[in-house]
Amino acid sequence: MNLPNYLTYKNNEIYIKNINYKKLLSFGTPVDIIILDRIKDNINVLKNIIKKEKSNLKIYYCLKACYLKKILQTIKTYGDGVAVGSNLELFISKNSNFSNDKIIFNGVGRTKEILMKVLYNKIRLILSSETEFNNILDSKFKKINVGLRISSKYLGKNLKINAKYSNIGLSLTEAEKIIIKTKNTNININGFSFHIFSNKTNLNDYYFAINKLNNFIKQMIKKYNLKIEYVDFGGGFAPRILFNSEKKLEDNFTKFVHLLNNLFDKNIELILELGRYIVSDSSMILSKIVTENNSWKFINIGTNYLIPALGYNFFIVPCEKNMKNLHKNIISDTMGTIISKYTGNKLHEKDNILVLNTGAYTNVMKEQFLFKDPIKIYIENNKIIKIKKGITEGEILKYHG
Ligand SMILES: Cc1ncc(COP(=O)(O)O)c(C=O)c1O
Repeated sequence: MNLPNYLTYKNNEIYIKNINYKKLLSFGTPVDIIILDRIKDNINVLKNIIKKEKSNLKIYYCLKACYLKKILQTIKTYGDGVAVGSNLELFISKNSNFSNDKIIFNGVGRTKEILMKVLYNKIRLILSSETEFNNILDSKFKKINVGLRISSKYLGKNLKINAKYSNIGLSLTEAEKIIIKTKNTNININGFSFHIFSNKTNLNDYYFAINKLNNFIKQMIKKYNLKIEYVDFGGGFAPRILFNSEKKLEDNFTKFVHLLNNLFDKNIELILELGRYIVSDSSMILSKIVTENNSWKFINIGTNYLIPALGYNFFIVPCEKNMKNLHKNIISDTMGTIISKYTGNKLHEKDNILVLNTGAYTNVMKEQFLFKDPIKIYIENNKIIKIKKGITEGEILKYHG
């Protein structure tokens, strides 16, 4: 993998969007650097293909990946909307002024009270269980539209997915049972969704599930005269940095869009709710190596950010030594971040490094474990546009009572 285009070396010093790393380090260490232009570009790479192929595929953002307000504002400008999974995420999306018609509420185990609030506000609702469906059966609304989430377990062929995720959603039999139950009620099933993958660089892997869901939808339309308005294919694209080349991403996505164009009617809205792809490679940590121990190197951020969450892929880039290719060379453990043996003989105490691809499922999952929250620096159009201090010790103590 090559260095992403927002990083360049001049005289063996790294520049992040034309800003010398030393300028960023002058604010402290470690620093969390967020490049808003990368978010815009990540979305636009897909949107340009969608436009070229005359597809009506929409790029929603799965808010749980990261919900820093500046990031949400950027996504609001360039994306099509947000997918939220809980009351808290709904609150966060409203705080960034997403209008109700730009929100999809697609989660698990939501209470009757929350479901009613969502229906009242005409937010697009996708149900993932029969219990949730029963919770809306006696609503007083004249007519309500809901979508059904199908579990990946019933759409996959040799799917390598974490068992945890495969249980979310309905089986095809359960979905049909719900459709039958809606007869003579105020409930109309108007959409379907699934979410099956994470970190995918080969989008062909979606085809089996898309075809299977499409066949099921066609059957349901024929049997029950459903009026389907949208199909949501979830998230799961890998961060752009993980595709071997821009061409590989563009070719893959063009084929993906062709498949959707061939299968679905033009009047059905097609939706992706991407998390990692949109934000992961927009952020990086800049840090000094504070100490070393044999071939292990420590930086003072640890699991505050570099959480070994499912599917994490961090890359280390030295600030003072030219490097062309990216290598996965970081292991994150609970004590602090440890750079693996790969870089052991090349980097030493007091050297500065960038840890790339840290924007998704990091700061939203963090704790103040050992180390403080880093300063955040936002970059847009080659300029620092905002600097935000991390959470203070006082705020941490308040949180923990
Ligand atoms: C329903 C749903 N949609 C989208 C996503 C986003 O996934 P990713 O960040 O891999 O794109 C998730 C993540 O778990 C999810 O549960």
